[in-house]
Amino acid sequence: MEQYIIKGGNPLVGEVNIGGAKNAALGILAAAVMSNETVKIENMPNVNDTKVLLQAISSIGAQVQRIDDNTVEINGSNIQSLCIDDGFIRKIRASYYLLGALLGKYKKARVALPGGCAIGSRPIDQHLKGFRALGAKVTIENGMIKAEADRLVGAHIYFDVVTVGATINVMMAATMAEGRTILENAAKEPHIVDVANFLNSMGADIRGAGTDVIRIRGVHRLKGAEYAIIPDQIEAGTFMCAAVATKGDITVKNVIPKHLESITSKLLEMGAQIEESDDAVRVVATRRCHPTNIKTLPYPGFPTDMQPQILIALGLCDGTSIVTESIFENRFKYVDELARMGSNVKVEGNTAFVTGISEYRGANVTAPDLRAGAALVIAGLAAEGYTTVDDIHFIQRGYENFEGKLRSLGGMIEKVNNDKEAQKFKLKIG
Ligand code: EPZ
Repeated sequence: MEQYIIKGGNPLVGEVNIGGAKNAALGILAAAVMSNETVKIENMPNVNDTKVLLQAISSIGAQVQRIDDNTVEINGSNIQSLCIDDGFIRKIRASYYLLGALLGKYKKARVALPGGCAIGSRPIDQHLKGFRALGAKVTIENGMIKAEADRLVGAHIYFDVVTVGATINVMMAATMAEGRTILENAAKEPHIVDVANFLNSMGADIRGAGTDVIRIRGVHRLKGAEYAIIPDQIEAGTFMCAAVATKGDITVKNVIPKHLESITSKLLEMGAQIEESDDAVRVVATRRCHPTNIKTLPYPGFPTDMQPQILIALGLCDGTSIVTESIFENRFKYVDELARMGSNVKVEGNTAFVTGISEYRGANVTAPDLRAGAALVIAGLAAEGYTTVDDIHFIQRGYENFEGKLRSLGGMIEKVNNDKEAQKFKLKIG
């Protein structure tokens, strides 16, 4: 089984190009099937999640043409099936975006019910509430969600919780409903805005994305388009936290600094120096940082997808920090793995009390999910000695060439398949 082997101790120094936003790409790729013309999507992150979603899109008959690793053309004119089977949903939950896209376009769709995952139960009641409000009959039979409607008619929908997934899914279905839809208490993440901008580039009429009220006027047809996905704020934030944890100096390039404000402000509180330019942010943290408190919130609050990464950096500060996870009910599982590296973190409910230590010690750890996996790699790069990280398939879901980018910054990390290759790495590094 592939794993990372890491020798810690080198401060990470240099520049790293940030790729397209995974959580924008998944909504955009699904929305692309709503047109019967060719849609060209650029700056797509070449990660396992986008690969699987493209397989799902191809499996229903849409034409998918990879132009290069980060560019794809999709044409939804020849879709034969409206059923997305369990295999794809088990691999990535976000295949459920095809429910909103196909329901909007064909007024019918069937998608396997997504399960929970390592970070929480992740219900989809708000997705189904939105589809029903638009006039769809939605049933769940034998683990499949079936949605169909004679007509979809615009509605005034109030989300009970702020939910990225339901905002995107219902926005897609409403794009081709008759009349006006208003989404209240909508999520405001940059990737919501990106999906809305993409749909508008295909001829949709969506206003207010990025605020908590999104107004949609349904259209009959969506045309072809060319679109480039925004940079990934979470990939950028992951490298920014790696700079702090390894006492390094990293410039993340091809970013939108505005999207990183909550992360930047926390790193400043911790004592890092930050330099911003139009499309880059430089993080310098060559001395031990100060503690601070974090509460994850919907955008523009501190992102839940950055909680593990910043906790790793806080674990090396000269004091105690409090990290509160308010979005998911089980997002501290990785703390048990981090304890193997000598951390001093106490979790009570959805709050972690993090007492800084002088340094992590290398250990064998296992990634419990995507972002925690990336965080454990950061801990390994900051640690004294060798660390191995297992189950790196989680990390490969959302980070393109993660080990290559870290190596370019001076990180001593390699992806290996067995102990023999791990030994070879140790001999090479010494
Ligand atoms: C998206 O998940 C992201 N995934 C997650 O990123 C991210 O952590 C999350 O948004 C929050 O920002 C993708 O975009 C593919 P939600 P999503 O619906 O849409 C509750 C990563 O690492 N809720 O905003 O599933 C839910 O339980 C991944 O890239 C309902 O109660 O998140 C949670 O407590 C991990 N009913 C809260 O809302 C619903 O119908 C936020 O969930 C939907 C959600």
